[in-house]
Amino acid sequence: MSQIPPPKEVVRCRGVTKSFGAGAATVAALRGVDLDVFDGELLLLVGPSGCGKTTLLSIIGAMLGRDAGDCAVMGRDPADMGRSERARFRGESLGFVFQGFNLLPTLTAQENVAVPLLIGGTPRRVAFEHAKELLDVVGLGDRLEARPSELSGGQQQRVAIARALARSPRLVLCDEPTSSLDHETGAEMVDLLRRAARTSGRALIVATHDTRIFSYADRVARMEDGRVLEVTPPAAAGGAP
Ligand SMILES: Nc1ncnc2c1ncn2[C@@H]1O[C@H](COP(=O)(O)OP(=O)(O)O)[C@@H](O)[C@H]1O
Ligand SMILES: [Mg+2]
Repeated sequence: MSQIPPPKEVVRCRGVTKSFGAGAATVAALRGVDLDVFDGELLLLVGPSGCGKTTLLSIIGAMLGRDAGDCAVMGRDPADMGRSERARFRGESLGFVFQGFNLLPTLTAQENVAVPLLIGGTPRRVAFEHAKELLDVVGLGDRLEARPSELSGGQQQRVAIARALARSPRLVLCDEPTSSLDHETGAEMVDLLRRAARTSGRALIVATHDTRIFSYADRVARMEDGRVLEVTPPAAAGGAP
C-alpha cells in the first residue's frame, strides 16, 4: 500500500507570548500563538491593526525574541542560536518582503537583488547574472539599471520580491506587501509569490489586512488580540473560492 508522505512542517509555534514595555505600560502583543506552516503553501495572516502580525513574523524571522512558548523554524529554534549563527540562518533560509520595500536607494534594481548573493559569498559575475534572471522572472528584465526612485511602487515591490527569493530561501515572510499598491498590482504580486512558492516547495507567510487577496492563499490564519483564532481555507475566510 503506498502512502502519501505528510507535508513537511516549516514553522511550528506553540503558546508563543511576547510583551513590550514594563509595569503599567506593558503591552501584551502575543498571548499564546499556535501556528503550523507547511512546505509549498501560502499562508495568509490576517487581522486588525495591532493584533500582533508583525510581532509574530519578527519572532518567526529570528529578528525578535519571545517571552515564552516554543517556536521551531525548519526544526530549529532561533533562540538557541548565537548571534552570528542566527544572522547566517536568516540570510540562507529566510527571505523578507516588507511594506516599505526597503530597497537601497543609491543602487540599481540589479544591484539591489545582487546584494544578498554577494553577502552570501557568490562571486560578483555570478551574482549579477542571477540577479538579472530573477528580475526577468518578475517582469523587470528591461529595468536592470533603474534606481528605486525611477520605478513605480509595484515595480519596487517586484524588485523586493526578486531580492527576497535570491538565495532560494525555504521560508519567505511578507509584511503587508500589497498595502501601498493598487488592487490589480497587489493581486499580481501575491500571484507571483504564490507561483514562486508552488514551483519551488517554499513556504510563504503573508501578513495582510487586504481581504482582496484572500483567494490567492492556501490557508488563512485569523489573528485577534495576540492569538491565532482559527486557520481555514480561503473560501471559509471570506475570499473568493
Ligand atoms: N517595539 C514595540 N514596542 C512597544 N509596543 C509594540 C512594539 N511593537 C509592537 N508593539 C505593540 O504590540 C501590539 C502588536 O503590534 P504589531 O505586531 O505591530 O501588530 P500588527 O502588525 O498586527 O499591526 C500593538 O499593540 C503594538 O502597539
Ligand atoms: Mg504590522
